[in-house]
Amino acid sequence: MSDNNTNRDSFGSKFGVIAATAGSAIGLGNIWRFPYVAGENGGAAFLIIYLGFVLMIGIPVMLSEFFIGRSSQKNVFGAFRRLAPGRPWYLIGLMGVVAAFMILAFYTVVAGWTLEYIYQSLIDGFAGQSASQLNDMYNSFIGSTWRPLLWFFVFMGLTSAIIMAGVHKGIEKYTKILMPVLLLLLLALVIRSVTLPGAGKGLEFLFRPDFSKIGPSTILVALGQSFFSLSIGMGTLITYASYIRKDENLGFTALSVAMADTFIAVLAGVAIFPAVFAFNIEPGSGEGLVYITLPNIFNQMPGGYFFSLIFFILLTVAALTSTISVLEVIVAFFVEELKLKRRIATVIAAGSVSVIGVLCVLSFSSMAETKIFGFTVFQLLDFTSANIFLPLGGLFIVLFVAWYINRKAIDKELSNKGELKAGYIPFYLFVIKFIAPLAIAFIFLQGVGLINF
Ligand code: PHE
Repeated sequence: MSDNNTNRDSFGSKFGVIAATAGSAIGLGNIWRFPYVAGENGGAAFLIIYLGFVLMIGIPVMLSEFFIGRSSQKNVFGAFRRLAPGRPWYLIGLMGVVAAFMILAFYTVVAGWTLEYIYQSLIDGFAGQSASQLNDMYNSFIGSTWRPLLWFFVFMGLTSAIIMAGVHKGIEKYTKILMPVLLLLLLALVIRSVTLPGAGKGLEFLFRPDFSKIGPSTILVALGQSFFSLSIGMGTLITYASYIRKDENLGFTALSVAMADTFIAVLAGVAIFPAVFAFNIEPGSGEGLVYITLPNIFNQMPGGYFFSLIFFILLTVAALTSTISVLEVIVAFFVEELKLKRRIATVIAAGSVSVIGVLCVLSFSSMAETKIFGFTVFQLLDFTSANIFLPLGGLFIVLFVAWYINRKAIDKELSNKGELKAGYIPFYLFVIKFIAPLAIAFIFLQGVGLINF
């Protein structure tokens, strides 16, 4: 283990670590994906299962990634090679890199939509539009070719620029200010939304469970959403943890990040669903849900112009702090394993992701009828990355830490060589040895239809 790590970039402070990690976790997954997926899967019952997964599976997986990253100080592929030399565990790392390609491709498309919505806010494009006109506006925008493509590339460019600069000076500094502002704006939206006439139905949809709507695939989708939202199962947090200093408390960080992420998702739900019902939008209407609902809410608010503008700017920032964390997985891998310069690695990574990204953009227009297993390219990447790659990655990650790594190394890393108490370790080990892997395996096999209970 004699690689020279002294020149590695690292996060400067405790708050910086939480801001960057929470910045990765909090993003379109909470505000765009959570409401649409919950809407398609019955609402409240989905929410309860989701919360259970965050607690029992998500946090332990997150902590396991922190352990792997910080103890190895390596990219996702190198980490497994260092902790398990000569063993095939590095395949988990490769799978993570593949998942990063898939996620970045479709996620950047949606992030690009957010830029269009900033532009529309700026020119006051939502003003005076009825709910159905806003719906048409969304559909004709995503159904066009050049604008969504343009925004896709702008967003990919922004992400690459930050990654080239290195993480800690840009991101750490800005997320600290911008994330709290996003929270405040979301609260303002919540207040307006729950006071709309007819809002009660939306709250009921989100909070009164109807378990008859739950099937095996719903459960898998809830698991996938919890992984996606927490940024776990593909090595983003392994990569980030490799930049965390040795005196940070990993257990506390995992708990704070998971709680912040979950809180924002629930808040987004409380903002969206009352409006969905108040404006007669179908909760299961898919990827457009948030983009159709939010402008309706803004139109009903005094100062809607400003709220809308600031909100979409912040959503862009939230998305950006997530896309950089995904691109960083690939770039750190290229730099450390293929010995490429950071700039070149970024260009190659962003360039190749963009090829798939273009197909995702066109999934709403000229390639809308090109289906694989009944999914457009966009839907296929969205669905399989979250519901297949991430749960499988998470499964192998916990198995690796629980059954391959020795207990002493875990104690040492999580307690910072005995500096911290970390009394939760026996419970954590029990969960990652038995509960989490069995639960993930079972839900996965059942969800994809390989077993049937
Ligand atoms: N967690 C991010 C979000 O909710 C998305 C993401 C997934 C980021 C996987 C990194 C890895 O928006």
